[in-house]
Parts: sequence; C-alpha cells; structure tokens
Amino acid sequence: MASPEDERIVSPRARPDEGSFEPGLRPRSFDQYIGQGAVVERLRIFIEAARDRAEPLDHVLLSGPPGLGKTTLAYVIANEMKVGIRVTSGPAIERPGDLAAILTNLSDRDVLFIDEVHRLGRTVEEILYPAMEEYALDIIIGRGPSARSIRLDLPRFTLVGATTRAGLITSPMRDRFGVVLRLDFYSQEDLSRIVTRSAGILGIDLAPEGAGEIARRSRGTPRVANRLLRRIRDYAQVRGTGRITVEAAREGLRLLDIDEHGLDPVDRRMLLSMADKFGGGPVGLDTIAASISEESQTVEDVYEPFLLQLGFIMRTPRGRVLTGPAYEHIGRRPPPGVAQGRPSQPALWDEVEGE
Ligand code: ADE
Repeated sequence: MASPEDERIVSPRARPDEGSFEPGLRPRSFDQYIGQGAVVERLRIFIEAARDRAEPLDHVLLSGPPGLGKTTLAYVIANEMKVGIRVTSGPAIERPGDLAAILTNLSDRDVLFIDEVHRLGRTVEEILYPAMEEYALDIIIGRGPSARSIRLDLPRFTLVGATTRAGLITSPMRDRFGVVLRLDFYSQEDLSRIVTRSAGILGIDLAPEGAGEIARRSRGTPRVANRLLRRIRDYAQVRGTGRITVEAAREGLRLLDIDEHGLDPVDRRMLLSMADKFGGGPVGLDTIAASISEESQTVEDVYEPFLLQLGFIMRTPRGRVLTGPAYEHIGRRPPPGVAQGRPSQPALWDEVEGE
C-alpha cells in the first residue's frame, strides 16, 4: 500500500536532511549550477545589469515540477546579487501582518523567496501588489469612520516566487513579475554531472557508469538523483565493495523498486489502474488518485508531469489517457485504436496477459 510520503524517493518536498541543511550539496553560484542553460543565461544577464545599475533585480517567477531546484536557484540569485535572502512560503503567510513584518525587515535589494506562491491568500496578495510595484505598504489604521490609510515605505527588494502550478497564479500577480521562467526536467547528461559532483562532495566512490545508471533513472530530477545516490551508497557499502559500479547501481535500484524508466511503485499502480479499471481513459485526475489512494495534488504535481514527459499519458479535455508505450511498459495489451508504441525498454514486471 502507499508508503508515507516522507520515505519515498519521489516526494514533493525536500526533507530536512536535504537542501539547505546539507550546505555543501546545493550549488551557490551559476558557475557551480549544472543544467537549465537557457534559464541560467537569462538570469546571468539580468543580474549583471541590475548590479551595474545598483538596482534590485526585477521580481522573478520560477515554475516547474518539484525537485528541479527552484529554491536552489533563489539562493544562487541572492548570492550572485550579493544580497541577503529571506525564505518563506505561501501557506506560511497567513495574515497581512505576517507579510508586513517580513517586508519591513528586509535590507535594500534583498531577495524574498516565497515558495508555493500560488497558495497566498487573497488579502495577503493584495498587500503584495503595491509592495512589488512601488515598494510601499498601505496600512489601515483604526476602524469605522475614523479609519485612515497610511503608506509606509519599504526597502527595495526582489520577490522570487516559486510554483509547481503556474496556471494557478492569479493574473494580477503574474503581471507583476518582470522575469517569468520555467524549469524543465534535466537531461541525463546533466544529472550524471550533478550526481558526480554530489558524490565528490559527500566522499562517495562513484564509477562513471554508475553515475550514468542513476542519472538515467532519476526522472529528470536532481532531488531524486541525489536521493538515489545516498540509498545506493548504502547498498554498495553493505552488499558490495563500497564503490558504486554500474552493477551496484542496478542492484540498488532493483532493491528500491525503481524500474528501467525510473518509475516507482506509485507510478506503476497509476498506469495499471488506468489500464485495468478505466479502460485506458479518458479518466479524471481525481478519479485516478482515489483509485490508488493518493492525494490528487501529489499525483498532479509529482507523478503526472514525468509520465507526460515520457509520453505514457496524455491530457485531453475529457481526462487523462494512457498511450501505447505505457501499455507496452506495464505489459498490457492496448485496446483497439491505441497506437502501439515502440518502447525502448521491455515490459518489466508483468507478463503480457493472455499470451
Ligand atoms: N544539485 C542539485 N541541483 C543541482 C544543479 N542544478 N547543479 C548542481 N548541483 C545540483
């Protein structure tokens, strides 16, 4: 059955032992940052220009699936701007007063990072508009007929907002970001460089082919790659020689139930449920999620983007549909009309039914 989200290799959030709590692993500068070439190139230019003018960087909106390094990039931006950073999240800012306290404590040109910026409440968002546009807070003092509004000047700052759901950002909010960037899944080559860098920092003996194997099955996501690296290190230490060879990586991945495409048991249950219970769709996301006892939001944010990227599912106006290659992958025969895919990998854990 479903394992607790916190124990999974694929999970929506960083854990306390990752990211900011593991100071060495997170790249600090663009020179250390691997991948996302187009995003990094643009940011480098905007940052250099802002610094030359001694201005804050324009507000930046980062979107993309979890684990691709939105928070990391916010730290890199602050570091490259040579300013401070304050980190919070949409759900953590409950009242306008919470936001006012944060904003008034910033220093000139600081970065304010708001994760899950699509989850800000409406009243908080409305305070943020003049803050972003004019570096000002409008505060109402008193009640009833004697109430009056005073305007408080704020330090100039850069809001870096991150979201897994660009579509849920309200349009007035979106319009106030001067720089809007989308992070994409990483290439296998970039992921291989990332785990090699991490192994160097953590003192892990990682063979190049071992790195390639981990990279290939990390679903385009550095956070997943680094988690796999740690778990496979454990395997190599206890069952092998300590060195992560390609064999050790494969055996470790088998133990973790990660398949050739990097799919975990939840992905596979999702595909099997779509095939067996819903005839391959179209079926709504909430229905799929309920059928495998998962949260709809986890399915939409964490599992679906990579299955879409692999071409295993498609979104249609009537719901999600399973594709030919997905049927091949789960070892099921596609219904008539579904194009037979040419998968790069054989079916992995099931016999083709009826054959
Ligand atoms: N660790 C996680 N993401 C990274 C990246 N993009 N570059 C370097 N190291 C990383």
